[in-house]
Amino acid sequence: MREEPNISYQEQIRHAYEFIHHKFEEPLEAGIILGTGLGQLIHNINIALEIPYEEIPFFPLSTVESHKGKLILGELSGKKVVAMQGRFHYYEGYSMKEVTFPVRVMKLLGIKHLYVSNAAGGLNPDFGIGELMIINDHIDLFPENPLRGKNLDEFGVRFPDMSEPYEQSLIEKAFGIAKQHNLKVHEGVYAAVQGPNLETKAEYKYLRTIGADAIGMSTIPEVIVARHMELPVFAISAITDLCSPGNIKKVRIEEVLAAAAKAEPGMSLIIRELVKRV
Ligand code: HPA
Repeated sequence: MREEPNISYQEQIRHAYEFIHHKFEEPLEAGIILGTGLGQLIHNINIALEIPYEEIPFFPLSTVESHKGKLILGELSGKKVVAMQGRFHYYEGYSMKEVTFPVRVMKLLGIKHLYVSNAAGGLNPDFGIGELMIINDHIDLFPENPLRGKNLDEFGVRFPDMSEPYEQSLIEKAFGIAKQHNLKVHEGVYAAVQGPNLETKAEYKYLRTIGADAIGMSTIPEVIVARHMELPVFAISAITDLCSPGNIKKVRIEEVLAAAAKAEPGMSLIIRELVKRV
């Protein structure tokens, strides 16, 4: 976050919102955050406006890795949407308040649902590379919570409920869409760690033991903040490597990206159809 004394986090969010709203006044239906290697959905958006992150007041300053980050506003499946081209990961050095800043801004822009995707390692032995897992619950293993500190009362309560972070009706609709299109999809629990290193074999075993089906380094902070604001969430993982005993190999980023590319068309289809039907 840019250092600006005397401007509270809430005011920073509001400034960012007003800047975007001034350029794009129509109320938005959905917010979309796409994971590593999963950005193709952007090409389905009828783009009305692109705003580089660095132009938006108080938006986190991008690192080199994500310096092409842009907010995309336009129409997807006949609905007005805002999508993040490039997300902020905790492992890049952003604070949790920075990682989740865009979700607060999207909520002020009027979104009714949040769609999130990510690349994840498959812990469930039934999962294959390039397959999809709809997230139905999560285990937060990040060392910091985005809601830590004074509660933002205007956005939500101090102790938000987390008994159903992922909207069941969206999960059911997504399964219906997958069935209609003969798409294989799993359902399961996503755990997230801070990264950036991948896990040891003992850590994979531990993650499976505590009940995770997939492991990644994102999504949960954004989901927690969305749920703080009672925003319904749909999230989906592309399984990019296998982390079950006997299947563990050295993870190469090229292979992760190739697996994400394999999973991407199905994932895009599900999100496009959900946006249309909700
Ligand atoms: N672990 C953590 N994050 C990941 C993995 C993994 O195996 N694969 C893709 N993101």
